[in-house]
Amino acid sequence: MKYDFETVRKRFNTGSMKWNEMVKHDVKETEDIIPFSVADMEFVTPPEIVEALKRELDTSIMGYENPTPEYLATVCSWMKSRRNWDAKPEWILPSSGVVNAFFQAVRTYTNDGDGVMIMTPVYYPMSIAINSTHRKLIDNHLINTGTSYEIDFDDMERKASDPDTKMLILCSPHNPTGKVWTREELTRIGEICLKHDVLVVSDEIHFDLIMPGHVHTVFASISDEFAQNCLVLTAPSKTFNIAGLQTSNIFVPNPKLREKFLASLRLSNPNPKCNILGYVACEAAYKHCAEWLDECLSVIDANREVVCDFMAREFPAVKVHELEGTYLLWLNLNGLGLSYKEIERINHEEARLFFDEGYVFGKQGEGFERWNLACPTRYIHEALARMKEAYSKYVR
Ligand SMILES: Cc1ncc(COP(=O)(O)O)c(C=O)c1O
Repeated sequence: MKYDFETVRKRFNTGSMKWNEMVKHDVKETEDIIPFSVADMEFVTPPEIVEALKRELDTSIMGYENPTPEYLATVCSWMKSRRNWDAKPEWILPSSGVVNAFFQAVRTYTNDGDGVMIMTPVYYPMSIAINSTHRKLIDNHLINTGTSYEIDFDDMERKASDPDTKMLILCSPHNPTGKVWTREELTRIGEICLKHDVLVVSDEIHFDLIMPGHVHTVFASISDEFAQNCLVLTAPSKTFNIAGLQTSNIFVPNPKLREKFLASLRLSNPNPKCNILGYVACEAAYKHCAEWLDECLSVIDANREVVCDFMAREFPAVKVHELEGTYLLWLNLNGLGLSYKEIERINHEEARLFFDEGYVFGKQGEGFERWNLACPTRYIHEALARMKEAYSKYVR
């Protein structure tokens, strides 16, 4: 490996959201464990990004900045080279985060009482965006096929055909199930939405995190009709572990939709923009960090394999879902015969392990754990040893 995926920086009591959750459970700094919950990585920042940021700090003034033409062109060439998508610089709108962007989209394109569909279990801020704005949550349950999920297209079509349903928030790749939707699946989704006039807000924040053998298709790249009926939400944040810089790139190919989104952004700031260091980091990442990303994906894939081998050997009743994309492994522990609350208790109190509990992603997630694999492999081994000791008392 050319890059360092072993060093871990102190995040205990530093304000890290992921670590704060663990600290709440009275974990001691000496316990030699890291949390496997919130989706940021424990890997150190790619050196090319650190260098670019240092250069910026040394040479520039930290004033107000809009994205430069060079920045926008770099983002578009990344889309072209990694995902074969011919995006145009003028489609890109700034947003300090993808979550902000889908909240904004819900407020911009739907009204009180309108239906907004999501495919559960799914990244839970999506349901918050719907409920907190008094829209109606339309739940298109994914069908669990054992170690993967399928889309219930009949249910999706039925719900989309209700004239009150105005929007689908698509999670692609899907968090927490690790699904990378195929071009065929995305095409069926897009056709249903076009037919019933449902706008697609495609959250593709994990689009760079694709495991070997899988291909991510950008929703808007499938056809011009789809492009005109969607927003594509992207960011370098998950890919290069720079989420704290809160910089994302929102693609809105349809000029009318774009104008509407901008007008709505301008209600809270007449000149919407992102953090200057976020632009610098994103540009450096897309220009110089492709090799870092490839190595990072190989570490995540190796971590996945370690967990799969362990479960097959020690706890075969645990179903490990196929990890097609993201670094979030979805495990179904229901086969252990313990309630989901008991599983949570054992993890926290006995194994001293901190995953994202599956139930936060929807009721179908009860008894599941979402395991963030973006960490040095030694932590995976340590966690598995703790699991073995803790669960052996309950499972024969
Ligand atoms: C699907 C999805 N969207 C959005 C986010 C967060 O986006 P941001 O930090 O840009 O607001 C996450 C983080 O886990 C995510 O998984």
